[in-house]
Amino acid sequence: MIRPILIHPDPRLKKPCDTVTEFTADLAQLADDMLETMYDAPGIGLAAPQIGVMRRVLVMDCIKDGPPRPMVLINPEITWASEDQSIYEEGCLSIPDQYAEVKRPSEVRVTWHDLTGTVQEEQFSGLWATCVQHEIDHLNGKLFIDYLGPLKRQMITRKMEKLKRERARMAQA
Ligand code: NI
Repeated sequence: MIRPILIHPDPRLKKPCDTVTEFTADLAQLADDMLETMYDAPGIGLAAPQIGVMRRVLVMDCIKDGPPRPMVLINPEITWASEDQSIYEEGCLSIPDQYAEVKRPSEVRVTWHDLTGTVQEEQFSGLWATCVQHEIDHLNGKLFIDYLGPLKRQMITRKMEKLKRERARMAQA
């Protein structure tokens, strides 16, 4: 099921999420819904708080050409980050049509639980590294615009407030 994506500013996008402790069918359904919502958007990553679920779950697939690689990461943690940094122009499904360059470690090693509760580990580089860091930030209540200067951040936030007002009007009409 495709779920509505919250648009910034929203208090749920600023709050740290809860650790997942039970690996149930309900969790698998959440992951399914998140992947469907992400592919539909379309996007390359989505974190649970973006659909208003305050649990430490993210999905991503950074494959541009070729067979998809849907990934579900539960309770992800960065255990190592490279000193080398990369700059990517980032966007966010909760901040539509706004993009800005963000500098982050080029490579990160991440551990997480899969849907059965088994611990997994992988080292990510390139777009995958940027994406996983962006999504883990969401689980900690942090957005990519928090890396920008205050003026740029305020400008984007005002645009999003306007967008939300317009959408609310459309919904009433
Ligand atoms: Ni995002």
